[in-house]
Amino acid sequence: MSRRTLDVIPKHRMLRRTLYGLLLAAPLMPLGVACGNGEDCGYGPASLRGGTVALNADGSLPSRPSCDSCPDQGDDGARLTGCHATASTVAGKAEVMCSYVTCSNDGRRPEGLREALVSESGGAMGALFAHAAWLEAASVPAFLRLADELKAHGAPEALVKAARRSAGDEVRHTRAMQSLAEHHGATLPDVDLPPFQARSLEEMLLENAVEGCVRETFGAFVAGWQSRTAQDPEVRDTLRAIAKDEVRHAELAWAVDAWAQERLTPTQRERLLQARRDALRVLGEEVEGHRPPEQLIREAGMPSREQALTLFQGLAGLVA
Ligand SMILES: [Fe+2]
Ligand SMILES: [Fe+2]
Repeated sequence: MSRRTLDVIPKHRMLRRTLYGLLLAAPLMPLGVACGNGEDCGYGPASLRGGTVALNADGSLPSRPSCDSCPDQGDDGARLTGCHATASTVAGKAEVMCSYVTCSNDGRRPEGLREALVSESGGAMGALFAHAAWLEAASVPAFLRLADELKAHGAPEALVKAARRSAGDEVRHTRAMQSLAEHHGATLPDVDLPPFQARSLEEMLLENAVEGCVRETFGAFVAGWQSRTAQDPEVRDTLRAIAKDEVRHAELAWAVDAWAQERLTPTQRERLLQARRDALRVLGEEVEGHRPPEQLIREAGMPSREQALTLFQGLAGLVA
């Protein structure tokens, strides 16, 4: 096998087919629908942990837990759309995971990332790009950690190199988004990240399933959409370059997932699948409540609620 072959992650044909199919439909879809109804998205994390609730009498998770323990993100923050129960390490209890409407594209959020303060200058466009730049910057340590962990777990060199290359991509994305944010009068918030701790292969893969296979893959779809529909040519050009990289990042996540399958027990594989299903459900709830301001749909190419739902259906088909 040549060195070049070893360094290349194979293209994920179904992912690319799904994405290109969705993007081909972009010019045919009406722009500017489902907005201006007072339910604009905010800036903040798409999901946060709430408190705990009691399990059902038979030990199963409650299907409709109370969302009272979900944190309020404040006036400018993302608004709560719902919550669901997930397994907890506390006996007899389930954990409440809260979902919020966020304007942000999804990057690969590293574990422990503390939410940024929303930029108060620059309007909706500035806030969007400042938050996107912050997420891009946070993705850099996430990929460097992934590269180190892949190496430590004996993954093929192609995966390790692809993770390092992705970190470099995210540095470029940060600069590009920062430039757009500054153009609109906003500044990049600081990335506040506690030091990483050592973790198991399964823990690494759970993060990869949620942040890579689901959220970053959806982020690649949204970036591709923006690169075709943004009326601002500078946004279109910036997103075109970013979208190409994001497709490769999504492919890396799926390649890591495929590599790891035979290293896991059947129980671990099921937990990984369940994490992916949970992440997809949470993302679906966010997309349901997604109503970006009309300016962001028009100028930044953000998908409207209906368009985002179409992209989500494409992702759901892929993840399923
Ligand atoms: Fe990126
Ligand atoms: Fe990325």
